[in-house]
Parts: sequence; C-alpha cells; structure tokens
Amino acid sequence: MPCQSNDELQLIVDEARTCTKHGRVADYIPALGEAKQDDLSIAVHYPDGTCYSAGDIEKKFTLQSISKVISLAFVLMERGKEYVFNRVGMEPTGDPFNSIAKLETMAPAKPLNPMINAGALVVTHMIKGGNVEERFSSLLAFIRELAGDPNVNYSQEVADSEFQTAHLNRALCYFLKQHNIVEENVEELMELYTKQCAIEMNCLDLARIGVVFAMDGVDPISEKQIIPKDIARICKTFMVTCGMYNASGEFAIKIGIPAKSGVSGGIMGAVPGKFGIGIFGPALDEKGNSIAGIKLLELLSKNYSLSMF
Ligand code: DON
Repeated sequence: MPCQSNDELQLIVDEARTCTKHGRVADYIPALGEAKQDDLSIAVHYPDGTCYSAGDIEKKFTLQSISKVISLAFVLMERGKEYVFNRVGMEPTGDPFNSIAKLETMAPAKPLNPMINAGALVVTHMIKGGNVEERFSSLLAFIRELAGDPNVNYSQEVADSEFQTAHLNRALCYFLKQHNIVEENVEELMELYTKQCAIEMNCLDLARIGVVFAMDGVDPISEKQIIPKDIARICKTFMVTCGMYNASGEFAIKIGIPAKSGVSGGIMGAVPGKFGIGIFGPALDEKGNSIAGIKLLELLSKNYSLSMF
C-alpha cells in the first residue's frame, strides 16, 4: 500500500521546520556534514498497513544510534538476556552519548546501558559469526526483515567516514578490552560498528520498523513474531529511559513515546499498540537529537494525546 501524503501532518511539519535554524547538522562524522539543515520528513505506519506522510519521505539517511536498539534486540535473540546483561547494564547515565567518564568510575567497568556508545559497542561485539562480513550480513538481514524491504543496505561513504575518524569510539573499545569486556580486535569491531551505524533507509522503512516494536515484535503485515514479546518490551523500555540520551527524562515528560534518535537526524518512534513513526530532520540540538524531529513529536503527541503516561 503506498504511503499517502497527509495535510494535517504537513501542517505540523511546517511548524516544526522553523526550529531547524536553531540546530546544527552533525559533522564530527564528515560525511554527515553534507546533509541539508532544513530537511524534515515524517511517516506514520499503522498495523493495518495504512501509512501517512509529509515532507520528502524518499530521502535516505543512515541509522546511526537508531541501530543500537535494533542490534540490542538481535543480540538478545542470539545470546539471551543473562549473557547480554552480564556485560552491559540497564541504567540511564545522564551523560552525553559518547562519554567515557562513567566507565572509569564503575566497578566492574561494564557500560551502564546499551544506548550509549560504550554499551552499543559491547552489544555489537556480541553479534555472532565467523568474521565481520558474516556478522554484518546477519544483522542486515534482520533489519531488512523488520523494514519489510530487501533493498535496505548501508552507505560505504558514511561507514568509511566514521571509521577514519572514530578515535573516541576506539578509545572506548580499548578501555573495554583492557577490562576484558570486549575481547575482539578493535579495528574489526570498529568496522562492524561503523557499518551498522551506516545502514541507510528512508522514513517509511523506519516507521515500518517502529510499528514492529509498537506491536510487541509482531510484523503486522506478515503477522510473524519477528522479535519475541519480552525482548521488544525490553527495547521499548530502553527507548523510554535512554533513547534520547541525556534528554530522555524531558522527552518522556513532554512527549511520552518510546523513541530512539541518531546523529544523522533520524528518530524512530513506537506508540505502543498503535503505530510506528519514522522521522528525518538532520539539524540537531546540543544533545545530538533532531531539533525539529523532537518538536514534531511534541506537536503530534499533544494534538493526538499520544503520551503513554
Ligand atoms: O558512534 C557514533 O558516534 C555514531 N555512529 C552514532 C552516534 C549517535 O547517533 C548518537 N545519537 N544521537
């Protein structure tokens, strides 16, 4: 079913777009710096396949940190909760996503949660397979199934750009390796992680993944349980407590929708039992979240009473 453009959504997009001038496109990964500051688009995907959209919804963007919630689901399915949570915690940090600070003050040096970079690197490290190629292919196949789109792929340009500049993430890996939480070759882990973050799609695909989380792991189109219900529940809980990094508390109060952001400007939302949301707006606020994307969700949540609290 094609996605229909929707006038009500377009009004909200137009209002939220005014915020883009107060944000900044991420450029610490050089390839992301090419994004257009005032881009903003949204797709809303319902379980019956109905889809509404506004903005340039064909535009592709890389998942960046949105991939963290998906790799978490994947690794929980592959390894089980005990294995995963022996190596990464469940608590919000209140620190920026790339902070190294808490690792040094925690004993053992286990990252506090899987949504910060340190925790996400540990999660990616747990993806099974004989080599990077095999491990990446299995994650990509899972993401294609979630999006219902066999054409989803990754951007080699963005992956290379991050790989060449990810000095802080390498530092996190070496710290974790020193403490025996990461055991593999750091360059291999960085290759896998940067490819994972560079998986790209448009906001329709992202909304389609959001609806699977919203429906407790069931793909409403194929009716297949892609993610076990308890794992989908864990992922949504992390989206509420840590999905928007050190803005998660304010986001829960003002918006109240499980959501996960990425520095490319994507946000995936999962309104429990109702629908999935995919947003792309590359101008970011100072915490690394899409500034207009958050405004858009705030207007949507207020206008349609979407807060789960
Ligand atoms: O590790 C990084 O820095 C990026 N690949 C992902 C960070 C990210 O998306 C944080 N999001 N707000």
